Amino acid sequence: MSGRVEVKPEAEFDEGDHEIIEANGRSIGVIRYGGEFYALSNTCLHDCGPVCTGRVHEKMTGEHEEPGQPLNWYHDEDEVVISCPWHGWTYDVESGKHIGDDSIQLPTYDVIVKDGMVYVETDLLDR
Ligand code: FES
Repeated sequence: MSGRVEVKPEAEFDEGDHEIIEANGRSIGVIRYGGEFYALSNTCLHDCGPVCTGRVHEKMTGEHEEPGQPLNWYHDEDEVVISCPWHGWTYDVESGKHIGDDSIQLPTYDVIVKDGMVYVETDLLDR
């Protein structure tokens, strides 16, 4: 199968929504966060949990202001991540890469918004 899979109208896709669709026997999560759409495999690479039903948030990053001092933590607005609800594995929503080991990567898919409808590009599923 190739082509686009319809998700739902953009107007019904609220900020923070997670929509789970089935395409070619695969479960895919479509997420709207910060006005952007992302689509990833919904099958966590740890133990097959429903990763796309987890919490989406900005990655926490820590930096030392001075050697020997505690880390100064902040939210990194440039890196949005999703945490699997089962055991917390966390992935970058854009690349699908695990935040602690970039050799672990969830498949990601293109999201297209056309004429007010949100689609996932399924041509990529046939790779
Ligand atoms: S199944 Fe996702 S973290 Fe374990």
